[in-house]
Amino acid sequence: MNILMCKPTFFDVDYQINPWMRQERPVNKARAQSQWQSLYQTIQQLGGKIDLIEPQQGLPDMVFTANAGLIHRKKVIVANFKHPERQGESQYFKNWFAQNHFQVFETDIPFEGAGDALFAGETLFVGHGFRSHHRIVHWIEEQWERPVTALELVNPSFYHLDTCFCPLNSTNALWYPAAFSKKSQQLLENELNLLSVSQKEAELFACNAVVINRDVILPKDCTKIITLLENQGFSTHSISTTEFILSGGSCKCLTLHTS
Ligand code: ARG
Repeated sequence: MNILMCKPTFFDVDYQINPWMRQERPVNKARAQSQWQSLYQTIQQLGGKIDLIEPQQGLPDMVFTANAGLIHRKKVIVANFKHPERQGESQYFKNWFAQNHFQVFETDIPFEGAGDALFAGETLFVGHGFRSHHRIVHWIEEQWERPVTALELVNPSFYHLDTCFCPLNSTNALWYPAAFSKKSQQLLENELNLLSVSQKEAELFACNAVVINRDVILPKDCTKIITLLENQGFSTHSISTTEFILSGGSCKCLTLHTS
């Protein structure tokens, strides 16, 4: 399993594009470095092979590689960020994908990559409403000739799909129901076996977990969901991500599965 990460050299909260980015408490840079390093080491210990993309000054959110693009086998749809603050990232991610022999697809529809598009087995779920535009659903269906399940996000604190939904395998997933419209809640309930995360743990980013086979890496203090996961036979690994939560991201946002 290959995972793309980006060192938090230039990570900071320099602007506000989601409700978590308040700039009241500054990011502790040293702490951010060590939290990122713990995540990196944990992934390596679990057998993940990590590729690194060079961080760029002036692009503080580039550390959130989940948003770089949506990957399926050797194809990638590169992100087209909604906010101008992040748009500069796309060219660096695009170059990395091209250099690493991906077939690159580009879209003019706002789309934030694996932050808003997640596979459960071969079923692709795409979240829209805050960052990715709902028109991307049909666009992916046409370009990749595969069905896509659209999910409408309704809570601004859970503005990316990976903040409120985490497939564990082809049939099971974690979710925070209140982040979805009623219709999308029903859709998900019909498709998957769902483990519900409480509001408290959702706000600790419990759904923003990295899944490596039967191992789940998730943010600190999500005690209820850890018990549920362990009862289902998963091994859990907690990482403190307080500095990244100041920017509205946690474990999963800092990673992109590339194979
Ligand atoms: N500050 C970043 C943003 O607002 C956080 C991105 C988190 N990434 C994610 N995949 N949820 O875009």
